[in-house]
Amino acid sequence: MEKQILLLPGDGIGPEIIAETKRVLEEIARLYHHTFQFVEGRIGGDAIDATGSPLPEETLDLAKGSDAILLGAVGGPKWDGNAPEKRPEKGLLQIRKALGLYANLRPVRVLKPLMGASTLKEEVLADVDLLIVRELTGGLYFGEPRERRQINGEDGAVDTLLYTRGEIERIVHQAFQFARTRKKRVVSVDKANVLESSRLWREIADEVAREYPDVTLSHMLVDNAAMQLIRDPRQFDVIVTENLFGDILSDEASMITGSLGLLPSASMNTSKVGLFEPVHGSAPDIAGTGAANPLATILSAAMMLQYSFGLADEAKAIEVAVDRVLAQGVRTKDIAKASENAVSTTAITNAVMEALALKSASS
Ligand code: NAD
Ligand code: IPM
Ligand code: MN
Repeated sequence: MEKQILLLPGDGIGPEIIAETKRVLEEIARLYHHTFQFVEGRIGGDAIDATGSPLPEETLDLAKGSDAILLGAVGGPKWDGNAPEKRPEKGLLQIRKALGLYANLRPVRVLKPLMGASTLKEEVLADVDLLIVRELTGGLYFGEPRERRQINGEDGAVDTLLYTRGEIERIVHQAFQFARTRKKRVVSVDKANVLESSRLWREIADEVAREYPDVTLSHMLVDNAAMQLIRDPRQFDVIVTENLFGDILSDEASMITGSLGLLPSASMNTSKVGLFEPVHGSAPDIAGTGAANPLATILSAAMMLQYSFGLADEAKAIEVAVDRVLAQGVRTKDIAKASENAVSTTAITNAVMEALALKSASS
């Protein structure tokens, strides 16, 4: 198979984890006889420094001409004082919107060897396997107006939480379709006791559910959902929710696995190019130290192989290799116990590549 992959390293640890993940993809191409052509583009602070814009036209053109996009992370203290349009995060929001990537899939799977890495008790974690389906191109992130203004004679600011029927319907359908391939349970998370947009969301979720009689739908208020995720994460199969709620709940859910450095994501629309990126950010506090965990990005590349290219065996091979490396006790600092030796971003990637080659030689 021949595919063009756009790499968008971005800022902070972004370039480090993308370089390592590229090596894993090259190894997959070698072992399974594919041709992956890599092109590289700028986004975020890196793009602002080079061009003045967080998402240059050229990057968007490269994205549209590629088969899939692998992104590191954007943002950092250097650009935190910038005007809203010149912030690194704006570039990420713009590319999601421009490509219509409304469905953000964030799977959370507990890996047995890492039970001890979580701050939660092992009996709460055993066998957790849930999927957060986060709406990604609407809600509070995009609603207008959003501005500073004078309110009753003093400084004020407004953001808008706005959803249309079509936006809600399509993301809820996605959640039900994924649930059909899993444990057939959807929990729709909202704040319908307060927010009008949530009341519309809930009504539409009930309507869509009638088309999936084989799947159970329940509703949960977001504050309770945040608590339930920690109290008993095993109760969840698929969670579908609004953009900002999904952002917050997914960082929270990362602690079920033990580290934000483990959580991958896929941002899809129904037909065209998908974008794959770790859930975490640019981690400025550890950038340049070789301590970044590349596994979230490596697992995001596995999601790319599966969802964008239909290469299920290759995707599985990466997941198995990651499991094996963790079972061997190879750990970056974020998942190592005080008593364990932590290895670098490059060293853990080498271990993944060795596990891949071994598996392939034995099969
Ligand atoms: P962050 O996710 O970058 O970091 C939170 C904490 O987790 C830090 O202590 C960091 O060291 C650690 N961490 C994150 N990824 C890790 C990894 N792969 N390995 C080991 N440790 C890891 O969140 P933040 O500090 O709140 O934000 C930093 C910057 O990143 C901000 O500018 C923010 O806007 C941006 N951000 C970008 C994205 C993205 O590009 N998708 C996502 C979240 C935050
Ligand atoms: C994420 C990030 C982004 C978001 C930011 C950087 C815009 O936190 O992908 O989770 O809030 O969507
Ligand atoms: Mn986030």
